[in-house]
Amino acid sequence: MDSIVTVLLCTSIVFILCYIYSRQNLKYWKRRNVAYAEPVPLFGNAYPVLSQNQSLGKFLSHMHNSTKHSYMGFYLLESPNLLIRDYNVLRNILLKDFEYFTDRSVLHNTNDEYARHLLFMLPGKEWKGLRKEVTPVFSLEKLKGKVSLIGEIANNLVEYIDKVIVNDRIDCVEVSTRYGIDSIASCFFGLSGDCLKQENSELYSMCTKFFDHTSTLRAVQMVSHFTIPSVAKLMHMKFLHPKASEFVDKIVTDAIDKRIKEQSVREDVIDVLVNIQQREQGDAFDHKKLPVVAIQFVIGGYQASAGAVTFLLYELSKNQFIQTRLREEIISVHEKYQEFSSESIKDMQYLDMVVKETLRKYPLLPFMDRRCVKSYKVPDENLIIEKGVGVFVSIYGLHHDPNNFPDPENFDPERFSIENKASIPPGAFMPFGYGMRNCMGTTFTYLSVKMAVIKIITTYQIDKSSETPDTLQLADNWLFIAPKSPNLFLNFKKLISRPT
Ligand code: HEM
Repeated sequence: MDSIVTVLLCTSIVFILCYIYSRQNLKYWKRRNVAYAEPVPLFGNAYPVLSQNQSLGKFLSHMHNSTKHSYMGFYLLESPNLLIRDYNVLRNILLKDFEYFTDRSVLHNTNDEYARHLLFMLPGKEWKGLRKEVTPVFSLEKLKGKVSLIGEIANNLVEYIDKVIVNDRIDCVEVSTRYGIDSIASCFFGLSGDCLKQENSELYSMCTKFFDHTSTLRAVQMVSHFTIPSVAKLMHMKFLHPKASEFVDKIVTDAIDKRIKEQSVREDVIDVLVNIQQREQGDAFDHKKLPVVAIQFVIGGYQASAGAVTFLLYELSKNQFIQTRLREEIISVHEKYQEFSSESIKDMQYLDMVVKETLRKYPLLPFMDRRCVKSYKVPDENLIIEKGVGVFVSIYGLHHDPNNFPDPENFDPERFSIENKASIPPGAFMPFGYGMRNCMGTTFTYLSVKMAVIKIITTYQIDKSSETPDTLQLADNWLFIAPKSPNLFLNFKKLISRPT
């Protein structure tokens, strides 16, 4: 009996001490006279995200819209973080004074043999060298040379849809994910992805494991790297799915060996990896580094670009006027050029407006994160950001702020017309992030999403089905903007004639 009382007493004392300590820590922003979201002892402001009631993206967006201040303090457990709303402040942090914010706030988990090499997570010094090395692969010039390849993959997409369609019913999430993986595998690794060739493709089933938000364990492990990095590290959580990582590791290692043996050059990511391997080989070289550079582009790319295609088709099924106008534009531009090339796609202005409005309403990665690496005085503000403080920008909040985009829930491509786009405030639209660590896949995404839409829209009429929701529920446990349900069914009806 005595021992039970002792344990209860000790637990209560520990709890009370933690509570008092936490309350003191949670005065960080008050002491600095910075507006802040009222925290709860022990959790800070993180409870809705930790309990999976709200995605991190939605949480930051709520905070963005709950204040008019240029910036606002909040706490993830005990650690102080700052949400930046004002364009001038975020431009300084992300671009002009980038040297103070070279790292991301997400955990760089050196214990994780794969994730420790992810470009997205690498700290400044290592990040800089690798980013410089892979940047040329993503240039407009290089990608222009890949347009016909992307066109072929988009043809495979339509053939795949023809093969699997039953009663006009198509799961857009599935087909656009297969397209996303195959187009990245072909363009950046010179591999002929088989996701659109084989229904039971192992590449497809393995890659989808990376971002399976229907698995609560995966969702908790990945989100924790952003929200409670110290706990994720302590508990040895894995950011990447171990089996899927091993699978891609093998494919990439084989591709590197083949490239070296054949001494061929394709100016893609595999060539960059061959160079790194030849330059850095030796006992200290970590062989996991190369596959992970590749995994970064597979996972960084397929989920977001597939999501963009899915959301765009969903909006077209609901907005028939937009769908008809888009199809008419594509057909008329095709009549002029007789092909779908980078020039003809550039000429499709309405397509560009529709894609941009999709990325505005559904910014696939809804936030940006940085960590202050040396104490920084914000110009023209009474604020010093101390080393270690996490800095976030809510892309979803900016895109859904009625001051930036009136009636933000309405899907209206006209916002991006030549006449209207000048009235979008600077910094209000940034689906690919901003500054030195912005997205590397911007040009590729525009090209591959547009090509998929061109081929689909000129082959099928897209309608809502009895299973299509009027309002799409978004996943509330996830890092990315994704439909809550793992499927999104639409009706695809074959058109009589189509451009080739
Ligand atoms: C709809 C498609 C996509 C969206 C909305 C998107 C969005 C983003 C955003 C918001 C960031 C963070 C930027 C920042 O912090 O400033 C990012 C980073 C990144 N993205 Fe994308 N992305 C997309 C597709 C792709 C593709 C196709 C690839 C590659 C094939 C890619 C590769 C990357 C990489 C490597 C980073 C990390 C950059 C760094 O830390 O230096 N993304 N992306």
